[in-house]
Amino acid sequence: MIELKKLSINDGLDVYNMLQDIPLDENGYHNSANGITYEEYKEWLVKKEKDANQVGIIDGWRVPQTTFVLYEDGVPVGYGSIRHFLTDALREVGGHIGYCISPLYRKKGYGKEILKRLIIEARAMGIKDILVTTNLDNYASQKVIIANGGKEIDRSTEHIHFWIYE
Ligand SMILES: CC(C)(COP(=O)(O)OP(=O)(O)OC[C@H]1O[C@@H](n2cnc3c(N)ncnc32)[C@H](O)[C@@H]1OP(=O)(O)O)[C@@H](O)C(=O)NCCC(=O)NCCS
Repeated sequence: MIELKKLSINDGLDVYNMLQDIPLDENGYHNSANGITYEEYKEWLVKKEKDANQVGIIDGWRVPQTTFVLYEDGVPVGYGSIRHFLTDALREVGGHIGYCISPLYRKKGYGKEILKRLIIEARAMGIKDILVTTNLDNYASQKVIIANGGKEIDRSTEHIHFWIYE
């Protein structure tokens, strides 16, 4: 059974281990929990909770964002975040939604699944049209976005902008 659950301050070792399997930086996706101790991870969970409840913008990028974990039969396989709104900087790179799947579970359809479920959550949060950006050479993510109804609107030398319209 596949489930998408909000990250919780009560999450434990299973989520911690998944976060250690995901590289620190990959295709512009920054996994800030990579390489931290379990105690630091507990603080990281608290920070993520604060990020979800934050009001307003910090430094043009850090808008309120809610993080979710994708589980298959109770095993965490990936995670992703929804930014509650865009800034000019996020319109360039970042968009509303970011996600990653643990390298142990890739090419099994979980990428498409997590974006599908994050779109449902974003709509429930009142985000109608959703911007997702990818690096030009991130073919896997481009397939994930197109499979979820993403329309390429423009591309620069580095990034592609997709909108998923309601
Ligand atoms: C992008 C990512 C989420 C895809 O996850 P995934 O679970 O492998 O995705 P899926 O299994 O749903 O595969 C989607 C499609 O991409 C293809 N694919 C997967 N990995 C691929 C790769 N390395 N190169 C080319 N195609 C790839 C799959 O075969 C599938 O193709 P299909 O639609 O023809 O069947 C994962 O590679 C990842 O976490 N990457 C690092 C973080 C990242 O890039 N996040 C996105 C930032 S926008």
